[in-house]
Amino acid sequence: MHRFWKRFVSPIIETAQPRRLIEIGAEFGWNTAPVLEYCRRTGATLEIIDPAPPPALLEVLARYPAEHVYHRAKSLDVIPQIQPVDLVLLDGDHNWHTVYNELLAIFRGASEAGAAPPIVVFHDIAWPYARRDMYYTPLDLDPSARHPYADRGMLPGQSELTENGLNANFHNALHEGGPRNGVLTGIEDFIAGYGKPLAFRQLPFFNGLGILVPEERTTPALEALIDSFYSRESLLETVVTLETDGMRVRAELAAQNIRLTRQAEALRRAKSTIEALRAELGAKPAG
Ligand SMILES: C[S@@+](CC[C@H](N)C(=O)[O-])C[C@H]1O[C@@H](n2cnc3c(N)ncnc32)[C@H](O)[C@@H]1O
Repeated sequence: MHRFWKRFVSPIIETAQPRRLIEIGAEFGWNTAPVLEYCRRTGATLEIIDPAPPPALLEVLARYPAEHVYHRAKSLDVIPQIQPVDLVLLDGDHNWHTVYNELLAIFRGASEAGAAPPIVVFHDIAWPYARRDMYYTPLDLDPSARHPYADRGMLPGQSELTENGLNANFHNALHEGGPRNGVLTGIEDFIAGYGKPLAFRQLPFFNGLGILVPEERTTPALEALIDSFYSRESLLETVVTLETDGMRVRAELAAQNIRLTRQAEALRRAKSTIEALRAELGAKPAG
């Protein structure tokens, strides 16, 4: 989600001015740090949920002791204990079961406390996890809550997993699509069952950002801001960023190819030197 911070997530937070926030799935704290800066400036509080904090996240948290509450836990275990918030950044376990039940718990908590439900900003609502589950710890889930999965990669437009695809080091559902599969499907199913108006807007690039605004949180300023994300200028800026990112990746791949070619050449030379030495030793008369 951090790639959306400057142009999208930060302006949403500055416009909505939440007093209490939750971040589900903080990883290295790349999003967490600027949110905590916002908290320091405005007196807001951030509740952070991540069961597997890398050292980089703990370093970020140590810099902002007064601005955060950290839960080293899974979202579904801890959300019911957290008091209602104004805004949630949701980027944890990318599967239907988790996302659907996170939303249920967040909205139920607000309703029981008599509070307005929060604005929810999601990551990974586009390919590859819009219509395909991924599980950080699949064995922790009831088998009925997960699809068959494998540690294999994904290619756009192909349901079957493949050796040469993206994110082959994650536990990905074997197939894309169908019921109860993927982050976007979880959000849509929640919205369909909610019973009250919920505006949901999607930015389908950088793996996708979703913005869910309950009626009670809608303001003209927030609506205008979200509309501006779809202006010609904003979309052009996104195209340029995507193009620049693409070129950077191509440059990295080219540099890596050159390194591999050089290493293979050095290996080939070392092998032929060893073979020549062996032949020389073998050719020498004994004694
Ligand atoms: C994609 S990363 C988050 C990236 C981060 N939001 C960013 O933009 O830089 C997902 C994180 O979710 C955490 N996670 C996995 N399962 C979770 C769960 N059930 N509840 C909360 N966090 C979870 C993982 O430990 C991981 O750090």
